[in-house]
Amino acid sequence: MHTQRLQPRDTAEAAEILRRGGLLGIPTETVYGLGANGLNPDAVGHIFAAKGRPQDNPLILHIPSADWLERYCVDIPDTAYALAERFWPGPLTMVLRRKRVVPDVVTAGLDTVGMRCPAHPVCRAILAAADVPVAAPSGNTSGRPSPTTAAGMLEDMDGKIDGIVDGGPCAVGVESTIVDLTVMPPRLLRPGGVTLEQLRDALGEVVVDPAVTRLMGAGEQPRAPGMKYRHYAPKAPVTVVQGAPAAAARYIQAHMAPGDGVICFDEYAGLFAGHPLEQLGPSTDVPEQARRVFEALRWFDGTGVSRIWAQCPAAAGIGLAVANRLNKAAGFHIVRAE
Ligand code: TXA
Ligand code: MG
Repeated sequence: MHTQRLQPRDTAEAAEILRRGGLLGIPTETVYGLGANGLNPDAVGHIFAAKGRPQDNPLILHIPSADWLERYCVDIPDTAYALAERFWPGPLTMVLRRKRVVPDVVTAGLDTVGMRCPAHPVCRAILAAADVPVAAPSGNTSGRPSPTTAAGMLEDMDGKIDGIVDGGPCAVGVESTIVDLTVMPPRLLRPGGVTLEQLRDALGEVVVDPAVTRLMGAGEQPRAPGMKYRHYAPKAPVTVVQGAPAAAARYIQAHMAPGDGVICFDEYAGLFAGHPLEQLGPSTDVPEQARRVFEALRWFDGTGVSRIWAQCPAAAGIGLAVANRLNKAAGFHIVRAE
């Protein structure tokens, strides 16, 4: 398959690819997505094939506005509209009860569906022109870190999709926050661009699913099926070092071997001369760390490092999402520097 490179102005061609049942790389404010017409089961099936994604991992539907919720969902609680009012368009996915019109292949047979209204202007233009809900997971091969640039997505998807629209680097850099509104109290299934603090401010009590902060045991079933898979992982094993930034940097310097790589905050780059290195941004600039974390993880696959050591922000604000992605990349192999 030849993958067509499209520009933001090529909205009509992009929408046409979706409408005729093709696969389209779409920029969103979080990460690039691999989109297909969410009402066309064959097209949605091709998403799973292109990603090598397990069939039991459901997809989320992207819609142009909250008005579309009623087309695909039932028993929609008032809290969904309150969240939409406050955070849509934006990096928030709500899990709601689905209607039968949503194909089983989208929801992996679940009676719920994840709904998201993205903010990226190019994505919004494509959704409006296509006039269909777009099923889209992140545009990576299953298990790899999510792409935050068109070039990153093409590394995984060139020749496997019909087109990709280059909307520039993603402004948020980690995937959307997922909140399950079918349970009381609402449950955070995946931290992302909308913070837990913001959700609690809007909803009151919000429970954090255990899969966010620890490895799930063999018999445990996480609420977001995707959270059970090895994820975001580079080829080399990752060790996350928590603690105050200066102490964590010194810990890594003391424990690393020749041939190890490091992901560090900008201030400490000088400690690791001679090692393959990716900078996450200043230790105080967590939004910048969110924008860089996936590209940092992906970069090491082109190096021969035997291990990757990673500094990690505190689990507050969007730092909860950055820490979650790093911890998952490490298989929750975490040490604490005192
Ligand atoms: O920011 C994002 O959400 C990006 C962009 C492209 O919109 N999309 C994305 O999709 O991250 P994906 O498929 O990579 O991650 C969606 C996660 C998976 O872990 C999946 O298991 C979970 O959402 N999920 C989807 N539908 C669900 C449902 N009905 N109940 C619980 N979890 C669900
Ligand atoms: Mg994904």
